[in-house]
Amino acid sequence: MSTDSLFRPFSLKSLNIKNRIVMAPMTRSFSPDGVPGENVAAYYRKRAEGEVGLILSEGTVIDRVSSSNDANIPHFYGAESLAGWQNVINEVHAGGGKMGPQIWHMGVMNNHHSGWVPSQPFEGPSGLNNPDLKNGVAMTEKDIEDTIIAYGKAAADAKRLGFDTVEIHGAHGYLIDQFFWEGTNQTHRWLGW
Ligand SMILES: Cc1cc2nc3c(=O)[nH]c(=O)nc-3n(C[C@H](O)[C@H](O)[C@H](O)COP(=O)(O)O)c2cc1C
Repeated sequence: MSTDSLFRPFSLKSLNIKNRIVMAPMTRSFSPDGVPGENVAAYYRKRAEGEVGLILSEGTVIDRVSSSNDANIPHFYGAESLAGWQNVINEVHAGGGKMGPQIWHMGVMNNHHSGWVPSQPFEGPSGLNNPDLKNGVAMTEKDIEDTIIAYGKAAADAKRLGFDTVEIHGAHGYLIDQFFWEGTNQTHRWLGW
């Protein structure tokens, strides 16, 4: 089987990548207090220099107090974290690569490993992590609106910093996924649907 097609350039609207090799988003937890430092930039630059056409960052959380369950997960908001991401994209571009942040809100998912919790309760569609486990509060319509705005702000910041694309994390049982399942989204019951 020929692998030539893997090495052909790919274009979609304004995104032009030199091959079809895309690095999947992989959580690392090396950003204390949510700030990606030089080590994070060096990690991604190395992948760009290794000919990855498009890098998707580890999940990086949006501007909601309880969007994260791990103090070492990077933030995609706040001056210090965004300065860290500016350095990351500069290094990736210098290494010949393209990159997009994966923007993330974990909803009511707790962290079984560290037990770390944010200063405000986790939030999700019904506050349920599974049908029998309440692990946070149910979001109000205002919370949902503010969350949508926070996603938009993160995407706009990605563009402003010079990232090439953005990925929204909609899987794996985190906030957006929690809206799709009856076990974690029981709003219809409260509303009598
Ligand atoms: C250590 C590790 C961390 C991961 N972190 C994320 C993440 O932050 N966001 C995400 O969407 N997927 C994450 N994943 C899932 C991967 O991106 C990928 O979807 C998964 O490994 C399946 O890919 P495969 O079918 O090529 O093995 C992670 C996977 C691993 C192994």
